[in-house]
Amino acid sequence: MLYPNSNYFYFIFCILLILVSISSCQTQTANNKVQKSEQNSITKSEFGKMPDGTSVYLYTLRNTQNMEVRISDYGGIITHWIAPDNKGRYEDIVLGYDSLDGYLKATPYFGAIVGRYGNRISKGKFILDGQTYHLATNNGENHLHGGLRGFDKVLWTATTVDSEIPTLKLSYLSKDGEEGYPGNLQVEVIYSLQEDNSLKIDYQATTDKTTIVNLTNHTYFNLSGDVKGDILNHEITLNADYFLPVDSTLIPTGELKSVKGSAFDFLQNKPIGKGINDTENEQIRYGKGYDHSWVLNPSKEKSAMNFVATVLEPISGRVLEVFTMEPATQFYTGNFLDGTIIGKKGIAYKKRYGFCLETQHYPDSPNQKNFPSTVLKPNEVYKTSTIYKLSVKQ
Ligand code: GLA
Repeated sequence: MLYPNSNYFYFIFCILLILVSISSCQTQTANNKVQKSEQNSITKSEFGKMPDGTSVYLYTLRNTQNMEVRISDYGGIITHWIAPDNKGRYEDIVLGYDSLDGYLKATPYFGAIVGRYGNRISKGKFILDGQTYHLATNNGENHLHGGLRGFDKVLWTATTVDSEIPTLKLSYLSKDGEEGYPGNLQVEVIYSLQEDNSLKIDYQATTDKTTIVNLTNHTYFNLSGDVKGDILNHEITLNADYFLPVDSTLIPTGELKSVKGSAFDFLQNKPIGKGINDTENEQIRYGKGYDHSWVLNPSKEKSAMNFVATVLEPISGRVLEVFTMEPATQFYTGNFLDGTIIGKKGIAYKKRYGFCLETQHYPDSPNQKNFPSTVLKPNEVYKTSTIYKLSVKQ
């Protein structure tokens, strides 16, 4: 009789080992570890209903790295972004609500597309082609984020795009006179979840009358995962030699001020919390922390996306990199969050529990001759893109 030799047993052992590891790779473990899936996908589910009964949907974009981003056709809101940490744990890195009702009741623009004019316009007034326009003053005496019912509070028409990568196209027609702005503005925002774990946002708009446009996304990030605390330990590098000082109502004074040596200097990475309470600094007092526009250093290659910022959360190792075609970014550190909002998973969002990097043109540009123009004419196409890219530092 023939007996198998030790090589034979070794061979069987190896096969068993391979089988066991393959099967464990396909499961999701208790501590949220998910292994790579074979396919990317985009799926649609009902998120809730508008007060008039219209259904609102949630689109889940997933890439083959198992990164997941959920986006609603209400406000184009990024409600969830599930990303791995340095231990392979998948957790949510954006602030928001569990259900549509939260967003319908009150939201500080969590995850939303902001427009027609993101940021502030002094006293809600501007002159275009000799005509004075009056907008809602919904932020003290100023106009903020498109008005009472900006692009964050409207239902967009969503279509999934037939593409190699999960892509969602949102369209909205902002009618002539809506929120006081001139011209019918046809807007398109395309979200695509790339294989390199970046979410690309492409904005496009056309108008039939000269108008002003400044679109952005207002996602609040907290890279700790499932919001474990404030964002003061996050380390940020911001590609800006200058920022825009503001008055006490957060309208830019018109000056471009060097960041050098001040609490606004993030040219070398440093924790967000380092200078945020430097109340000797008038600008920090006005913003109650950071709530300012940083003027991005121009990119060397003209056509390329410009580097905005890198943010690292040292415990999870999660890294966010931002790139844009816009000339500036509002860096807002959630100074107005005060714990009254109960967000996803019942977590109270306290002061500085999230940060936003809202890529955009300068605030109040329609009233400031020296700022890059935000005027869009009927024969022009407004086109801009921003990328938020996630990775992990081991
Ligand atoms: C922006 C503003 C902040 C604040 C938030 C929303 O980023 O600059 O002042 O209004 O939106 O709370």
